[in-house]
Amino acid sequence: MQRAVCAPLVAGRSVGLGPRSPQRHRAHEHSCWYRARPARPLCSSASASAQGRPVAGAMLDRIIRVDQAGEFGANRIYAGQMAVLGRTAVGPVIQRMWDQEKEHLEKFNEMMIDQRVRPTILMPFWNIAGFALGAGTALLGKEAAMACTVAIEESISQHYNNQIRTLMEEDSEKHNELLEILKKFRDEEMEHHDTGLEHEAELAPAYTVLKTAIQIGCKAAIYMSERI
Ligand SMILES: [Fe+2]
Ligand SMILES: [Fe+2]
Repeated sequence: MQRAVCAPLVAGRSVGLGPRSPQRHRAHEHSCWYRARPARPLCSSASASAQGRPVAGAMLDRIIRVDQAGEFGANRIYAGQMAVLGRTAVGPVIQRMWDQEKEHLEKFNEMMIDQRVRPTILMPFWNIAGFALGAGTALLGKEAAMACTVAIEESISQHYNNQIRTLMEEDSEKHNELLEILKKFRDEEMEHHDTGLEHEAELAPAYTVLKTAIQIGCKAAIYMSERI
């Protein structure tokens, strides 16, 4: 099925959709993950706000915002790695992980539009910082690139686990659909983490220092992306 391009998510905003209505939604041909169940979208009550926005709530806003930013950042990291290592023996390995990150990002982009959640204002920064981190570590060698992957994917897996725990404590039945997505993505991030280890991440120069520094940056990025 051919997909139309969703309203662009540029520098922190989706544009051009207008108030969400059933008619408008049907006309929009992207692969909305809950399109078949418009009466009860994304963990919310069946009612909608006065503006026609699904009632996702502040917690879900934060989850979608930070996860979309994280997946965007991951895509930029792998883009940076591929720019340097794409033609080497690990190119296909990195490409496979990147392809999964593209799917993750697409899913959160769809949620963001359907739930009318604004992206973080830091998107332009993550665009540059993500690519620079990916390319910079790749320039140190394939082991450093894999160390970056291990650091990022470990942090993101823990981050998804925290969200899964929060949603389950809040109401696992109500959040079931989102939980399934987060669990799937968490498992795939763990696979990326393991792939990094299998490709000699621990042989990177100053592995522990590099990993710790990247994870501190990742935590800061998560903290800021949830809030602004
Ligand atoms: Fe991802
Ligand atoms: Fe990943």
